[in-house]
Amino acid sequence: MAYTITLIPGDGIGPEVVRATVRVLEATGLDFVWDEQEAGMRAYENGGEPLPGAVVESIRKNKVALKGPLTTPVGGGFRSANVGLRQALDLYAAVRPCVSLPNTRARYDDVDLVVFRENTEGLYAGIEYFDERNQIADSIARVTRTGSERIIRFAFEQAVALGRERLTLVHKANILKRTSGMFLEIGRAIAKDYPQITFDDRIVDNMAMQLVVYPEQYDCIVTTNLFGDILSDLAAGLVGGLGVTGGANIGDGIAVFEAVHGSAPDIAGKGVANPTAMIRSAEMMLRHLGEAAAADAVRDGIREVYAEGTHLTGDLGGSASTERFAAHLAERVAANVAA
Ligand code: NAI
Ligand code: MG
Repeated sequence: MAYTITLIPGDGIGPEVVRATVRVLEATGLDFVWDEQEAGMRAYENGGEPLPGAVVESIRKNKVALKGPLTTPVGGGFRSANVGLRQALDLYAAVRPCVSLPNTRARYDDVDLVVFRENTEGLYAGIEYFDERNQIADSIARVTRTGSERIIRFAFEQAVALGRERLTLVHKANILKRTSGMFLEIGRAIAKDYPQITFDDRIVDNMAMQLVVYPEQYDCIVTTNLFGDILSDLAAGLVGGLGVTGGANIGDGIAVFEAVHGSAPDIAGKGVANPTAMIRSAEMMLRHLGEAAAADAVRDGIREVYAEGTHLTGDLGGSASTERFAAHLAERVAANVAA
């Protein structure tokens, strides 16, 4: 049986890391049919929309997508196709595991965090106003009870399924009494249904400091959209940076797997990007598809290649190209599958 997957190479380093990821996935011996779709800056510059309807339709049909990063212009220009996609498909949960790997030159070697980020509302709801005459700008954070309940419940369910012990809700309820206040109140109520998980909460600024100083003390984190965006990059920095951190965007019956990083225009086209983040996202995709053995082969292969330390990319102090890293990892993955 072949899996039909929507494949979005994306912008900047996207096509490079996606190609590397496809190579590693195919080394598992599973059969994939890639339904390739163009989105982001590339789609826009080719005279289309940054988020063509065909892309959304393809994912609705296939239920699973592997997605490279999409460039969003800063300030003006078109609205983020990433945010648009998450909202169009109601991909309400971003799951971003940050686990230490050997030889990354990270400051810690014992970090094992999962960030659950609400992915469709909060300050990214897209409710923005600009009063031209008085030069007043508004970006409205919209937090709903339904939206909060489903991400918090999802985080608890995942924490239980993953054998985790603790879930920390991150908020700013002292200042944002309405939005963050409701999110916290809902978290405290739902926590009563999960006595096996230790539940606590932190104010976001303190959490940023705590994560930098004592990251090993934290386990799972659940938070609203903006805080989750920031803290997941922070958590990536604890385990070797954006080159190694994968992620998933989950909705009801639909999942889009993508790295935490963006299109990295500073290194795009040079063949030096680290594809590990995208490959770890693909590992999550394999688990989602029920292919646990293949996912384990990828996970172990990554760990082996990092422990060896001879084929690492430039972001980690190595000199391997994206392709060389991927070829080496693909060999390890094939060997792990055969073993
Ligand atoms: P970025 O994540 O693209 O890059 C930040 C830094 O990390 C850069 O120095 C980059 O070279 C490095 N980096 C990122 N991924 C790497 C990898 N795989 N290997 C080695 N180094 C890596 O963030 P930035 O520069 O803020 O955003 C660039 C563009 O990407 C923007 O247009 C932004 O909107 C978009 N973006 C898209 C995302 C998505 O599609 N999900 C997520 C984040 C940003
Ligand atoms: Mg981000």
